[in-house]
Amino acid sequence: MSMLEVTDLNVYYGMIHAIRDVSFTVEQGEVIALIGANGAGKTTILHTVTRLLASKSGSVQFEGKDITHAPAHSIVRLGMSHVPEGRRVFADLSVYENLKLGAYTRSKAETEESLQDVYKRFPRLEERKSQLSGTLSGGEQQMLAMGRALMSRPKIILMDEPSMGLSPLFVNEIFNIIQEVSASGTTVLLVEQNAKKALSIADRAYVLETGKIIKSGAASDLIHDEDIKKAYLGE
Ligand SMILES: Nc1ncnc2c1ncn2[C@@H]1O[C@H](COP(=O)(O)OP(=O)(O)OP(=O)(O)O)[C@@H](O)[C@H]1O
Ligand SMILES: [Mg+2]
Repeated sequence: MSMLEVTDLNVYYGMIHAIRDVSFTVEQGEVIALIGANGAGKTTILHTVTRLLASKSGSVQFEGKDITHAPAHSIVRLGMSHVPEGRRVFADLSVYENLKLGAYTRSKAETEESLQDVYKRFPRLEERKSQLSGTLSGGEQQMLAMGRALMSRPKIILMDEPSMGLSPLFVNEIFNIIQEVSASGTTVLLVEQNAKKALSIADRAYVLETGKIIKSGAASDLIHDEDIKKAYLGE
């Protein structure tokens, strides 16, 4: 049994068939990358898995449990956490307040424990805990969005383009942190346009083109695949 098992998923926006018969699996402990160009359907897939969007057909299983029709609010309690595209931190709340919101499923003592863990992983967030989140730099906001998602101690973290809009230095830092999160036992499903970076840290990857998975395999193989190199790695 895979930790996450998505089978024959079809998602529509009105008449637009955005996701077509998509199937993929994530095993516990893996880093899985879902790569694809603008509009390929990456965000749609994450939103369907976390139940922000409903699918027309297909199923989503998490730890052997069918969550295809589970209410969106139950997802975090099951052990999934989502770092949304474009960070989406609450700009008018402090760093500390944003982090606390990520722990709404946990007790006061657990929240304090998580907070110390997140501050350890992101010292910059502790330094800036009273700062209004809207005044953080883009990279700091990405750290906050990741920190907030980690506050619930997820079994799996779903990240939507964490490198978007960041300087190369910050991109490296974010990817290092993703590797640390993985090493500490959290399973990672990573959606990225930055295929090179994503493939460099992933165990396996799926390549999405106009709503369909056109290729999948070990990241170490895909990074040498001629078609992938041409289309996604700029080589
Ligand atoms: N709310 C919506 N209404 C109608 N069409 C939508 C909606 N959201 C997304 N789409 C369409 O669905 C397709 C997939 O979009 P999605 O946002 O999942 O792509 P993506 O791979 O995440 O792209 P990006 O890398 O630009 O974030 C696109 O053609 C997009 O225009
Ligand atoms: Mg997207």
